Amino acid sequence: MGRFEPVGRNERGQTYNWQMEEIVVTGGRQLKGSVAVLGAKNAVLKQMVAMLLAPGTHLLHNVPGILDVALMGRVLEHIGATCSFDGHALTVEVPDQLRPEAPLDLVRQMRASIVVLGPLLARGGVARVALPGGDDLGARPIDMHIDGLRKMGAQFELEHGMLIAGAPGGLVGTEIGLEFPSVGATENLLLGAVLANGETTVHNAAREPEIEDLAVFLVKMGARIQGAGTSTITVEGVEALQPTTHEFLADRLEAGTYAVAGAITGGEVRIERCIPDHLRMELRKLTDSGCIIERGDDWFSVIGPDRPGPVDFATLPFPGFHTDMQPQMVALLSVSSGTSVITENIYDARFRYAGELMRMGADITTEWQHAVIRGVEKLSGCPVIAPDIRAGASLVLAALRAEGETVVGDVHHIDRGYEDFVGRLQSLGAQLERRQAGAGT
Ligand code: EPU
Repeated sequence: MGRFEPVGRNERGQTYNWQMEEIVVTGGRQLKGSVAVLGAKNAVLKQMVAMLLAPGTHLLHNVPGILDVALMGRVLEHIGATCSFDGHALTVEVPDQLRPEAPLDLVRQMRASIVVLGPLLARGGVARVALPGGDDLGARPIDMHIDGLRKMGAQFELEHGMLIAGAPGGLVGTEIGLEFPSVGATENLLLGAVLANGETTVHNAAREPEIEDLAVFLVKMGARIQGAGTSTITVEGVEALQPTTHEFLADRLEAGTYAVAGAITGGEVRIERCIPDHLRMELRKLTDSGCIIERGDDWFSVIGPDRPGPVDFATLPFPGFHTDMQPQMVALLSVSSGTSVITENIYDARFRYAGELMRMGADITTEWQHAVIRGVEKLSGCPVIAPDIRAGASLVLAALRAEGETVVGDVHHIDRGYEDFVGRLQSLGAQLERRQAGAGT
């Protein structure tokens, strides 16, 4: 993970600063070939935190080489664990005594750090975690995490932006009903409940495959969990957990992003080592837009149409259309032959990137959580800025279709969720490269 040090030297001995890099794309090539998917970012991050529940040596396989994993490694090291990466394997040594805090500089860089609350409270009855602010997707409160842990006996105070949590007698099992099936709140409660005293039931729990994978991991550690992957999860607290070894499920968002890369270029891309069932709604919408999809148990292929057709969809919790595939799909629909209406139900500010697509010639009107996309015949390359992980990926996808050269800035956002995005697109025949910002001027 050395390459995620802010400043370093590349293979040719030249100094670089990855926070200042950009991707230059020359559009117009049809992508062809196959790409294998790595472990799911949103499973890996939570399972790295879950390891804090058991002292000893844990081993994880199929860990993607992405910035968020490196950042979560820093959070764990701050808490007292030691992380060593070897290719896609990660060994984590968790000590008996933890330093139960996640400071602002780490939480700001990665909001997912908030899931340390549950395990730290479960392990030592105390946690100090900086309150994450909003981000480019919206306000993103964590009230459901706090309310649920409160019901389990935790007390919270907010002091100078730090959430100080205590459960001196340990967490106690109870019934919790979530107002909305929040992924993070479900995970935090699960991570607290596995060592709590008694039985916890979470109603209206998130049903995402990453939650099911977290439960599989926790059960391997000795936890007792029923119903993960459904709306009602029941956890019977145990005295202690043991370290374990785990291979992550495939990243459905990485798979879906390469599928759109094939679709938007009218190419033919096969996605391997993935679970097409985890992308049912997204593949259905790609089919509706004119793509030909073939699939097996652990692969699927996409043949893109010359010009996609318009498609309407609304983002919803799993198994609905994933909000993290919305920007990529909007890039595709921006060159469709008609008008598409998109409703974003998960985040309150997820269309901020639309302005960047409009610089490339897309015709998009946004109003509150709706976007109307009138397909245009062509996009044209220009400088744009990646505002977040998925919007960053979507701008690169749009650039693959655009005429001429597009320069995507702030690509460290893309590094948060995609390992070697440029190299993998190059392997499919795309014409793009990564360089220091401004190197082309
Ligand atoms: N929400 C609340 N209160 C809460 C918790 C959530 O109002 O206590 C709201 C949020 O503000 C948001 C919505 O509920 O509007 C959904 O939040 P959720 O808790 O489900 O999402 P998350 O756990 O913060 C994870 C992923 C996101 C993904 C969402 C939805 C990780 C690290 N992040 O976030 O992934 O969009 O679930 O599926 O697992 C990404 O990978 O690019 C990404 C943003």
